[in-house]
Amino acid sequence: MSIPRAAEILRAGGLVVFPTETVYGLGADAANPHAVARIYEAKGRPQFNPLIAHVLGLVEAEQHAHLHAKAVALAQTFWPGPFTIVARRRAESAVCELACAGLATIALRAPSHPMARELLAAFGGPIVAPSANRSGHVSATTAQHAADDLRERVDLVLDGGACEIGLESTIVVVTDDGAVTLLRPGAIARAEIEALVGPIASAHGGAIQAPGMLESHYAPRARLRLDVGAPQQGEAYLAFGAAAAAGGATLSASGDLVEAAANLYAALRALDATGADIIAVAPIPAHGLGEAIRDRLTRAAAPR
Ligand code: TXA
Ligand code: MG
Repeated sequence: MSIPRAAEILRAGGLVVFPTETVYGLGADAANPHAVARIYEAKGRPQFNPLIAHVLGLVEAEQHAHLHAKAVALAQTFWPGPFTIVARRRAESAVCELACAGLATIALRAPSHPMARELLAAFGGPIVAPSANRSGHVSATTAQHAADDLRERVDLVLDGGACEIGLESTIVVVTDDGAVTLLRPGAIARAEIEALVGPIASAHGGAIQAPGMLESHYAPRARLRLDVGAPQQGEAYLAFGAAAAAGGATLSASGDLVEAAANLYAALRALDATGADIIAVAPIPAHGLGEAIRDRLTRAAAPR
């Protein structure tokens, strides 16, 4: 069985790609700054980009952050699952400062994927993991995509099949006074969070709190054109709510946003691989998971 071996590699400061329900993660021992540095190197990621520390649950998270009652309520509702909480870091947290990019806060998530949980249990401590792709590329939703992108830079790839959700976790920051702000839309929709803690502010357009919110972050090679009803000749078309024409792809023929999220990155990769210079994307509704899908597409379309 490869889980014990993966845990051993983490203990030795190595890098392990593992599946989560959102996207594949590039994991390292959160307490080992050398291992964390290898993550940045493997990703080609600027060092100021802080990482999410993955834990088994709320009890473990409390060891690393000061969690306001609202953060606790959110964790109890959405964990284990595609939800990340940023809160004030405890001075005694084992997660090294490099992983937090020197910030006074820390990002924590308890994933639900059984293989991720087995790995966390076998390792016995927090595992930091960004999405398992080279910096600026689309996130990997299969073990093969992660391996293609990272190659010999990682020590082991755990294959747990295609990710069920296919879109990164929702990130909120909960401050000591209980203010909740949405930093990154994701698999848990805003309405689900607001049902629990009331109206939440969005960090969009304001100061960049998550460096991952840099405009051009999730980018395929081809340029993207959004909200396109009918593609022009030579453009690869990414359809929604319709079947794909030859040379194109569809996020969901039936117009299902969950299916669209799960297909997003694989579809972008596939259309990129056709060699087209422009990917024209059909209009995507803005509600529910559509907000996160539109957010990723807008970043991918940003000038770079
Ligand atoms: O679904 C996910 O969240 C996946 C899986 C592997 O868990 N992980 C993921 O990690 O998407 P990554 O590194 O690609 O994105 C993490 C985001 C980055 O935008 C980072 O800037 C932000 O979280 N982040 C981490 N710590 C933060 C902090 N203390 N304050 C604000 N943003 C933070
Ligand atoms: Mg990422």
